[in-house]
Amino acid sequence: MLFIGLLIVHVLTVILWFGGLAFVTIIIFPSLYKIEDIIQKSLSFQRVEHRFAKLARYYAATVGISGLAMAYMTGWHMILFTRQGLFLTIMFMIWVMWVVMLFGLEPFIIKKMLERMIKGEIPDVNLIFKRLNKMHWVLLSVSLIAAASGILFAHGYGAR
Ligand code: HEM
Repeated sequence: MLFIGLLIVHVLTVILWFGGLAFVTIIIFPSLYKIEDIIQKSLSFQRVEHRFAKLARYYAATVGISGLAMAYMTGWHMILFTRQGLFLTIMFMIWVMWVVMLFGLEPFIIKKMLERMIKGEIPDVNLIFKRLNKMHWVLLSVSLIAAASGILFAHGYGAR
């Protein structure tokens, strides 16, 4: 009963998290490209990113806590980093990457860069936006790999 409750929380949070990431990547970025004014463009992105990064930190914590709790309840933590637990390990490592991004890099690198953009300190804002959009596509793809790994693991693919 507790396990299934944790699994429901785990999967629903994954849906909110990566659904939001997909929305930013596929819908928000193309609409930002249409804004001509550089300051307006940077401000609009800052508002979205600021709010979403904050939510994503909660999502990452919820997914991690529920995932680790399930792994400890079942003893699957023992097969992390073994061939048997390949798909569990992929899911775990992608989550670790997200924790580093959201708690380590985003508050320092992305936030500071956006502030510099708004102050007009960065000459080629459009190029930075293209790179940021690319980065979001990579993150979205990697995150979908984590979700696929979770499904494969949960349904008995890869020996366990
Ligand atoms: C980016 C992060 C993650 C994503 C996208 C993700 C996604 C998923 C998905 C889609 C499922 C499949 C549910 C199903 O088909 O029943 C799942 C199950 C699971 N995940 Fe994750 N997960 C993530 C992080 C983690 C972490 C950090 C752990 C901890 C080690 C973890 C442990 C588990 C466990 C134990 C299951 C249940 C397997 C089962 O029902 O047999 N996940 N995850």
